[in-house]
Formats: sequence, structure tokens, C-alpha cells
Amino acid sequence: MDNEGIQPVQWQDNQLLLLDQRILPEQTVYLHYSKSGEAADAITDMVVRGAPAIGVTAGYAMVLAAGEAIALSTDNWQQEITPFVDYLAKARPTAINLHWAIVRMQACIANLDAGLDKNKVLTVLLDEAKAIHSEDIQANKTMGEFASALLPENCGVLTHCNAGALATGGYGTALGVIRSGVANGKITKVYADETRPWLQGARLTAWELLQDNIPVTLIADSAAAYLMQQGKVQWIVVGSDRIAANGDVANKIGTYSLAVVAKYHGIKFMVAAPTSTIDMDMPSGEGIPIESRPRDEVLAVMGQRVAAEGADSWNPVFDVTPASLVDAIVTEKGVVEQPDASKILAMMQSGD
Ligand code: MRU
Repeated sequence: MDNEGIQPVQWQDNQLLLLDQRILPEQTVYLHYSKSGEAADAITDMVVRGAPAIGVTAGYAMVLAAGEAIALSTDNWQQEITPFVDYLAKARPTAINLHWAIVRMQACIANLDAGLDKNKVLTVLLDEAKAIHSEDIQANKTMGEFASALLPENCGVLTHCNAGALATGGYGTALGVIRSGVANGKITKVYADETRPWLQGARLTAWELLQDNIPVTLIADSAAAYLMQQGKVQWIVVGSDRIAANGDVANKIGTYSLAVVAKYHGIKFMVAAPTSTIDMDMPSGEGIPIESRPRDEVLAVMGQRVAAEGADSWNPVFDVTPASLVDAIVTEKGVVEQPDASKILAMMQSGD
């Protein structure tokens, strides 16, 4: 794999390895999976998270599912795989990369020669999963280069959640932009929101930037508006879980409020995401399913109850930022400024 840095997803000795992101940065532990259902549960339980990393994991989980189906029936494995795939598809609802990777692996299965030896089937599927993985890393690097052209000199940026190597095949979308912008000297200051309730910013973004010797200043989520009012950042840079065909962007809860506040202060708002995150079948953000997670995630911090006994909570974990608040969507196919449906379609069709 063309990735020397942090690797959240790996394939070794016929097993899927996932870096357990629930316990970072205190512990760096890889969990091993040889069953697709367990890999699906790992997605649901946040062992692996971030839309592109979920897609990469799903590619490998499809290889595991094929192995399980072949063990049930060498002749009818293409039917036997269905329940495994259905279970995997339900692991998390918002990140379209999960569905995208499953559809791509299913297309690979549909194109297999009927008489192909079953060991070879698994080799072909594994090659496809590895292609999904390495293409994602390459896409991130390309996005980083494209985005740099948009940034001014001496630029301060704020990012939300973790859209880094940990959330992708490697390198990162928003953090890929930041890595490239720091490398070419344009980004001189990086702020990260802590990102309650899972603290992806405090635990994951801060950790991975520091691994790369990129200084990072953490802020409470509620400090973002004041940071912007003080003129400390010129761009907000985030990733996405799903971009609708009209440019509406689903991302970690709190992204929408950053976009509203950025617009008020005349600060630019960038979304960096591979085209595998764009859902051309979803006309607008209104239809994007928003995951609700357990109440306890808000009532507690890292498993330690902090809320008053008896308090209830509401825990939607994504929100939708309307395209009208987005200045640029950066993909590996190019940059769409002031996105709308026709610009997104043109970008998706470019190079086909
Ligand atoms: O709940 P998570 O941690 O899976 O949410 C992740 C995000 O919202 C990321 O910003 C998004 O998936 C883009 S990751 C490149």
C-alpha cells in the first residue's frame, strides 16, 4: 500500500486489521477480523470511523463475506453472500462510502468468470478491495494539491471532527488539505474543534497532526464563533459523509453551525471529499439519513457519566450544511466553487 503513515485499515494473513480508534490516543491496538459480521459490528461500534475508512473496511469485509459464502456452498455462494452483505450495509446509515464500496465489490462479483476457481475468486476480490484502498489514498493526495491553490499565504484554518488518515485509507481529506497546506507553507496555524460527544478532534485529529509534527491548537466546540470573530482563521476545512447531487453536505454534527458562523464572518468554507462520497442518487441534503446514536454518548464523557441523573439527551451525530454556505468542494476530480447541481454533475462526468 502506498502509505507510509498512519494506517487505520490493513489486510494481513487473510484477516482484516482495524486500529481501534475508540481508545486512541492512549493505546494503539489493532483488532483482527475474519468474519464480515464482526467487521460490520466494528463499523457500528466506532472501532473504525470516517466515511472513506468505512468504505475501505467494507471492501475488505466483502472479501470476508465471500469466503464465508463459499464455505457454505461453492456452487451457490453468490446467493449465500446476500445476508452477509445486507448486514454489512446496515452498519452505519449516513456515510455513503459504505454503500459505494459494497456496490463496487458486487459489480466485481458480477463480472467474475463463472468457472473461476474459488481461491482465485477471493484473490480477485481482494485485489479489488486493495484497489479501493490505494485509490482512496491517492485521491486524498490529489485533493491536497488542488486545495492548496485556494488558500492564501499565512492562512489559519479550523477543522472539525477527524477527516484525517484515521478516517480514510490514509493521508486524509480535510487533514490531507492541511498536510499539503502546511508542507507548502500556506497554512501557518491549525485549530481543531474537540468535537463532542466522541471527541474525534481532541483525541484523533490532535494525535495524528502531532504524529506529523504539525502544531495544533484545540478549542472547545463552543469557542469556534469567537475564534472566527477574532480573525484567527481564514478557512474552515472539513470532510463529509455524504454530498448530495446539489452540493448539500452531510458531516459531523456541528459542521452546519460552523458554516453559518463562517458565512456571517466572511470566512471561507471548504469541504474535501473523494467522489466516492458524492451520492448522485440523492437530489438534496433533505433526504440524507442522519444517524442517531445512543443517549449515553452525550450524557457521559468517555464512558464516565457527567450529566445529572434523570436528564435525557438527543444525539444526532451528523447534520447537513446547505450548498449555499459552501465555498468549495474539493475532490480528486477537481474543485467545485459555489457548488450547485449542474457544477457537481459536470465535475462527476469530467474525465469519464
Ligand atoms: O462519526 P464519525 O467519526 O464516523 O464521523 C466522521 C466525520 O464526520 C468525518 O468528518 C467524515 O466522515 C469525513 S472523514 C474523511
